[in-house]
Amino acid sequence: MSGTRLFFALCLVVSVVAFGAAILTSAPASAMPPAPGVGMGIWKAYNCEGCHTIYGQGGAYAPDLTHIYAARGRDYLREFLANPAAFHPDQRQMPMFGLTKSETDNLLAFLQWVGEQPAAQSWPPRPITVSGGGSLSAAPVTAPADNAAPVSDDPVVRGQALFSNTPAICSTCHSLTPDVVIVGPSLAGIAERAATHAEGQSAEAYIRTSIVNPSAHIVEGFQDVMQKNFGDVLTSDQINDLIAFLMTQ
Ligand code: HEC
Ligand code: HEC
Repeated sequence: MSGTRLFFALCLVVSVVAFGAAILTSAPASAMPPAPGVGMGIWKAYNCEGCHTIYGQGGAYAPDLTHIYAARGRDYLREFLANPAAFHPDQRQMPMFGLTKSETDNLLAFLQWVGEQPAAQSWPPRPITVSGGGSLSAAPVTAPADNAAPVSDDPVVRGQALFSNTPAICSTCHSLTPDVVIVGPSLAGIAERAATHAEGQSAEAYIRTSIVNPSAHIVEGFQDVMQKNFGDVLTSDQINDLIAFLMTQ
C-alpha cells in the first residue's frame, strides 16, 4: 500500500519537475532573468559591444562572443576578464577594465544566457510591455553611478560628458590627447582636420558622417572597425551634442 503511495508521490514530483522544466526552457527570449539582465547593463555600460558582436550586432574589432561561454568555459573567462593582456600577447589587445567580482559574475551570466538563446531572431531581447502601456527594457541598464552624465544647458558640456559615458563611450577607442592611438585615431584637432577631410562638406557634416556612417571615409592607417549603430543607439540631440563638443577640439 505504501509502495503505491510512494509511486504516486514520485509521479507527482517527476511531473512537477518536468512541467517546471518545460516552462523554463520554453520561456520567451524576452524573459531575461535578473543576473543576465544586470550583466547586459554592464555589457552596455562598458561598451563591450563597441568592439565585440553578439548575433552579429556590435563592433567588428574583436571576436564575436555569441557562443564564447560554451567555447571557453567559466573559469577561463573569469581569468581572461581579470587580465586580458596575459592571454594572446601577439594579437590585438583588449583593455583591462578592472571589473569587480559581481560585475564579472553578472557578465558571465549574461554571456551564458546569450549562448543559450535559440536563434538570432531572439536578439536583442524584446522590450516587455507592462500593463498600463508603459514599456520596460528587458534588461535593467545599470551603468556605474559615476557614468551618469550631468545635465547641462550647454551642448558642448553635454557632448563632453557623452564622449566618455554610456551609451556612446567614444573614449574606449578615441583619446583626446594628440597622437595617442587607442583603437581609433586621437580626436585632438578633429575640428580642423574635419574641415579639410572631405571636399565640399563642412566640418560638422564630416563629423556627423564619421559617427553615423563610419565606413564612408576610413582614416588612413586604420581599419573599418568603428561601431556602425551609433545612428540607432544615440538620439539626434546626443549626436548634435557630440559634434558640438568635437568642434571645440
Ligand atoms: C577596445 C576594444 C574591446 C572592448 C571595449 C572589449 N573587448 Fe573583449 N576583446 C577585445 C579583443 C581585441 C579581444 C581578443 C584578444 C585576445 O584574444 O587576446 C577580446 C576578447 C574577448 C573575449 C574572448 C577571450 C578569448 O580568449 O576567447 C571575451 C570573453 C571578451 N573579450 C569579453 C569582453 C567584455 C565582457 C567586454 C566589456 C566589459 C569587452 N570584451 C570589451 C577587445 C575589446
Ligand atoms: C570600437 C572602437 C571605436 C568606437 C567605440 C568609436 N570609434 Fe570613432 N573611429 C574608430 C576607428 C578605428 C576610426 C578610424 C577608421 C574610420 O575612419 O572609420 C574612427 C574614426 C572616427 C572619426 C574620424 C576621425 C578622423 O580623423 O577623420 C571620428 C570623428 C570618430 N571616429 C568619432 C567617434 C565618436 C564621436 C564616437 C562615439 C560616439 C566613436 N568615434 C566611437 C573606432 C571607434
